[in-house]
Parts: sequence; structure tokens; C-alpha cells
Amino acid sequence: MIVAATTQRVVGFVIFAVVVVGVIAWLIANMRASRAEVGSEIELAANRKPYYDDEELEGKKLNMALFSAAGLLALIGVALPLYWLAEPGRQEGAVEMFQETFVDRGRELYEVGAQCVACHGGEGSGGVATYIINDQNGQFVDQVSWAAPALNNVLYRYSEEGVRYVLNYGRPGSPMAAWGGPGGGPLTTQQIDNLIDYLWSVQKDPVAVAATIDDSVKGLDEGLYTRMMEVRKSNRGDGEPVDANRLSRADELALGEIIFNNQEIAAGSYSCARCHVAGASYGQAWQPFARLQKGALGPNLEGIQDISTEQQHFDLIWNGMKPGAGYFSRKQGNPQMPAFGANPNTGQAEQGIPDKGEFGMLKAEQVWAVITYERNLSNDSAVKSPVAGTESSPTFVGQQ
Ligand code: HEC
Ligand code: HEC
Repeated sequence: MIVAATTQRVVGFVIFAVVVVGVIAWLIANMRASRAEVGSEIELAANRKPYYDDEELEGKKLNMALFSAAGLLALIGVALPLYWLAEPGRQEGAVEMFQETFVDRGRELYEVGAQCVACHGGEGSGGVATYIINDQNGQFVDQVSWAAPALNNVLYRYSEEGVRYVLNYGRPGSPMAAWGGPGGGPLTTQQIDNLIDYLWSVQKDPVAVAATIDDSVKGLDEGLYTRMMEVRKSNRGDGEPVDANRLSRADELALGEIIFNNQEIAAGSYSCARCHVAGASYGQAWQPFARLQKGALGPNLEGIQDISTEQQHFDLIWNGMKPGAGYFSRKQGNPQMPAFGANPNTGQAEQGIPDKGEFGMLKAEQVWAVITYERNLSNDSAVKSPVAGTESSPTFVGQQ
């Protein structure tokens, strides 16, 4: 495209140069022709000058006029189609240049203007935010390190709209502030769009998104990893949903626990606890203290098995929630609940949304594992094994 744009520019310059040289030559010739006048105006008035005789006029002169006209015509005839041929390339080049400018502006905001990098890490690799927790009366309770999820995979779990919502409104009660106008933040609609363009430019490829969680499982429990990959292979390796083969119940509980709770994998971006267990984002999951806080973003999932079938449960985790669309045949969806199985941004290339394939963060056997773990949260308290480092929870005086 760049080549097409350059060639076209060269052709343009050549034509321009030819025209300029021609005009100058014509002017000079004109001036020289008029300078020949000397003597009385009556005798030598230009229109009284004897002109060429017929022979010359209809011979050399005429031929020259005709040939130069034909030459000009040929030039236009060649130049116009050339220009027309290169036009799509030029337009694509322009679109691409715009896109690059948008990404650059987004990067500038991410790294400098809005300092997203301070919490979410370079290129959205994930990080941590220092945060002060107050109680309901505004009294200091604790200073914590709150995991800021990796964003180099965020467009595998949220649609563009879902990301825009978080950027606009932030996550009240967490270190994530509202950045967009609708939420009272400092950035314009255009800047929020540029941030999303930038986030697109740092999204990992689908293989790397799957490998992040798979490799972590391998590091924690190699046998479990091997069995997980075997089941996946029996599902044609591509995470076939719904009727997929599954791990044993024991393996599902173990794998489900890793995925549900783990805050170390990509700064918690694959975890459920960060939204469903107050305190999980700062290493105080399942603590009575944590439950005194405003609560987590998502509801407590204990008892989920009483309000949903396994199939409904699977569909929800696989597809996430759509604003306004019901789920579990009674509730209104909240777009903050991400999709974990299906890529919410697939199949919209025509609307200019990059297509990274049909799968999202987790494969079918992993989603089933999380579901089994969740449906046993209230049956078996041993299931709720908390994240490490939860010893130092402060005690409250005068609360509850
Ligand atoms: C002070 C630290 C901080 C800054 C600065 C910050 N974030 Fe966040 N962000 C967080 C934390 C922490 C969360 C997770 C909140 C939660 O637990 O629900 C988050 C959540 C998000 C999410 C939702 C991701 C998910 O999977 O839940 C997105 C998207 C996001 N931030 C983008 C940005 C962008 C873009 C910027 C810069 C304009 C930014 N953040 C600036 C700390 C920060
Ligand atoms: C970024 C935050 C976030 C993450 C991460 C998250 N959820 Fe949610 N989830 C929500 C929100 C918000 C709701 C509540 C929607 C509503 O208002 O009805 C919800 C609702 C649910 C529900 C329905 C609960 C009910 O009682 O209606 C289930 C089940 C669920 N989530 C499971 C999961 C699982 C499993 C994971 C991890 C694979 C997960 N969630 C990760 C935010 C999150």
C-alpha cells in the first residue's frame, strides 16, 4: 500500500513537472514572439504582420498542433487511469495512517497522559495498585496491594462496548477510576476510543492467551495439566463447547479451584474470585473482614446450583452477559460479567473490529471445571481454600 502510494506520488510529481515546464516554455515563447515589434504601430501592428502562407500553415504548423494535442490527450489518457488504479491503495494507506495515529495517541495516554501503565503494567501485562481501604465511616482500615488485571487479553473477555463501559465508569470501590466523560472522568470520547485502539494493538494472539493459563496449571500440577490436555485433544483440541468431554470430578474441583481463585496468573485476569469474593484482589479472600467491605463487584456464588441448571451455568460462563439480555431465565444481564469461553469480538470484521478467532480465555474443559467448583462452594467448606497470605486480617471493633 505504501509502495502504491509512493509510485502514485512520483507519477503525480512527474506530470506536475511536465505541466510546469510546458507552461514556462509557452510563456517564454510568447514573450519572445511579442518582442519582435519595432517601428510604427500602424505598419507593424501585430495583426498587420503578414502571416505564414498556406503551405506552411497546413503543413508543419498544423502537424505540430495536432501532434501536441494528441500527445496531451495521451498523457491525460494514461495519467487518469493510473491515478484511478492507485486510488484504493491511497485510500487504504490513509486509513492505515489514521489507525497508526490513533494507536500512537492511545499509547501516549496509556503510558504518560493517564498513567494506566503504573497499575496495569507495560503493554497491559498486568500489575498491582496500592489502595487504601476505609470502612463505612471513612476510617482507615488497611493499605493493600490490589491486583490490576492484565489488559493484553481483555478483548478476549469483553466486547469493545464492555471495555468502553469500564473505561468510562471505572470500578467504584476499587482502584480503577472513571476515566470517561459519562463517569465524570477527564478523558474525551475520542481519547477513550484511542485507548481501545491501543489495547487492540497489544492483544496477545489466541495461542498465547490459552498458553498463559495452561502453563500455570502445568507449573502447579503437572499430572492435572497432562489430563487436561488429553481431554482437550479428545474435544478436537479446539475447546468444543457444551457437549465437550470433561475431566473427572476430582480433577474438575482441583482445576476449578486454580482458575477460580488464582490471582498470580496474569494478575488475576483469568480468575473469578477477584469479582466474586471480596478481598480476593488483595490477598484477603474469604476473610470475614473482607466481607465487611462494600462487597465484591459480582454476587456471592454460594448456592448457584439452586438457581441454575448446569447447562444454564455453562452458557453464562461461556458467553458472558449481554446488557439487557436475561439469564437463568429470570435475571437481567450485567455486561461487567465477562465471557470466558467464546470470544465476544469475533465475527464483526465488517464493523472494523479485529477478529482473533472464536475462542476466548478458557477452553471447554476448563469452563466445566470452574462450574463444578462453583456448584460445590456451599457444600464443602474445604473447597473454599483461600489464596495464600490471608493471615493478617485486621479485626473490627464496633462493626457487625
Ligand atoms: C490506580 C491504578 C489504576 C490505574 C491508573 C488504571 N487502572 Fe484500570 N484497573 C485497576 C484495577 C485495580 C482494576 C481491577 C478492578 C477490580 O478489581 O474490579 C482495573 C480494571 C480495569 C479494566 C477492567 C479489566 C477487567 O478484566 O476487569 C480495564 C479495561 C482497565 N482497568 C483499563 C484501564 C485503562 C485503559 C487505564 C488508563 C486510562 C487504567 N485502567 C488505569 C487499576 C488501575
Ligand atoms: C470483572 C468482574 C467479574 C469476573 C472476573 C467474573 N464475574 Fe461473574 N459476575 C460479575 C458480575 C458483575 C455479575 C452480576 C451480574 C448481575 O448483576 O446480575 C456476575 C454474575 C455471575 C454469575 C451469576 C450469579 C447470580 O447469582 O446471578 C455467575 C454464575 C458468575 N458470575 C460466574 C463467574 C465465573 C465462573 C467467573 C470466572 C470464570 C466469573 N464469574 C468472573 C462479574 C464478574
